[in-house]
Amino acid sequence: MNQDIINKYGKVCAVIGGQWGDEGKGKLIDILAQEYDYVVRATGGANAGHTVYIPDPVEAGKTKKFVFHLMPSGVLYPNVTGIIGNGCVVHVPTFFEEVAFLKENNIEVEGRVFISDRAHLVFEYHKLIDRTLEERKGKTKVGTTGRGIGPAYTDKIARSGIRANDLLDFESFVTKIRTNVEMLKKMYDIEFDVEAEIEYYRSVLSQIRPYIKDTVYMVNKAREEGKTLLMEGANGTLLDIDHGTYPYVTSSNATIGGIVSGSGVSALKIDSAIGIMKAYMTRVGAGPFPSELEDAVGEKLRTTGNEFGSTTGRPRRCGWFDAVASRYAVMINGLTAINLTKLDVLDEFDTIKIVTKYLYQGKELDSIPASLDILDQVEVEYEELPGWKQQIDKARKISDLPENAQKYVKRIEELLGCPVDFVGVGVSREQLASK
Ligand code: GDP
Ligand code: IMO
Ligand code: MG
Repeated sequence: MNQDIINKYGKVCAVIGGQWGDEGKGKLIDILAQEYDYVVRATGGANAGHTVYIPDPVEAGKTKKFVFHLMPSGVLYPNVTGIIGNGCVVHVPTFFEEVAFLKENNIEVEGRVFISDRAHLVFEYHKLIDRTLEERKGKTKVGTTGRGIGPAYTDKIARSGIRANDLLDFESFVTKIRTNVEMLKKMYDIEFDVEAEIEYYRSVLSQIRPYIKDTVYMVNKAREEGKTLLMEGANGTLLDIDHGTYPYVTSSNATIGGIVSGSGVSALKIDSAIGIMKAYMTRVGAGPFPSELEDAVGEKLRTTGNEFGSTTGRPRRCGWFDAVASRYAVMINGLTAINLTKLDVLDEFDTIKIVTKYLYQGKELDSIPASLDILDQVEVEYEELPGWKQQIDKARKISDLPENAQKYVKRIEELLGCPVDFVGVGVSREQLASK
């Protein structure tokens, strides 16, 4: 164990998306997982896509890309126990696809990955409702991932959801799912064949049951026994159902509160929170984006940064780093450190801009407004910094970075009032510059 990491970030460390998702959480989780015993996903479902590149476990000398949707991103280390927490919504076929893909790559997760018995399940009808509602919304559609996330959380909050625990009593599961589908068909005016869904679950019952456990007790007991927990956030702060750019958000708390309620680990036991933030901003799906660049600069960020969604392949909207939005993420999550990712994407830019202020009707706003009308009308004020015009992919310490890159990182630290402990300089495990 690298005691420095545990000394610095504590026995319970949360890693949280600081923007609109896809900031590079998967990469840091994979790196830190080397030092932690448990990696715990607490919120979201297969809307997440967390990318990790590692040396190919099957073909020597090659690199392998893993994109995790439900599986905690730390499971590539055999000593890690992976938890899909009670706050997640689980699509069982996607979970099994990930188990199979890992197995093909000589990575076994049986007996060391567990799904909370309190986690709610995502069914095919949730995906159908997700698509149907998006179509019906027309121009005001959210641009969801189509993974049934909103409808599954809707059932949870409406107290009619079906939990992993229900699979332990199959007859009662069948009654619940039939009752639900009858209700949902009327509510949403849809057609759905529930019997095919029931047959699927009957066929995988013996495979899924060993994964279902009381993970809340498991992780709390582990912590008491001195084990260390890495909490893996999904989605991002600005997609949080309470604190994000509502209604253009996901349906769960992607911030620190979701980590607590979605894992059952007390807020008082979290020792640190590392915010993952790209060196510029991106967003997939609809909704406000004050620093968006709909020009050649935005296009250059998208192509250089390969900004296409990990889950849906959609082009990501791109813009300059927004210090107002990112400062908000520091506040909401109580971030203790930042991993600024993808700084290498800015290598070729002559100058780089940072949003430092939001102005509405000529006045500076204190924070992000709740009103989307106001947010749409906000004028942003930029600060411009010189670029470094050289490759930085070999830097392993922040002090190895060119002077202008260090100045950019320092300026972000100042504007956010939070230290940048890690800077991403490429996709692979070793391409990380630390303090
Ligand atoms: P997540 O959802 O937050 O885990 O992020 P995604 O995996 O959806 O998207 C981040 C993308 O950026 C992935 O393709 C990563 O491989 C890539 N990435 C992460 N960190 C870096 C970095 O420092 N530099 C570069 N060039 N790519 C990175
Ligand atoms: P990771 O964990 C980027 C976005 C969708 C859409 C909105 C609602 O990989 O960072 P949903 O399917 O959740 O109902 O969609 O939220 N979204 C994400 N964007 N990264 C994610 O996850 C996202 N999860 C949801 O694009 O705008
Ligand atoms: Mg992603």
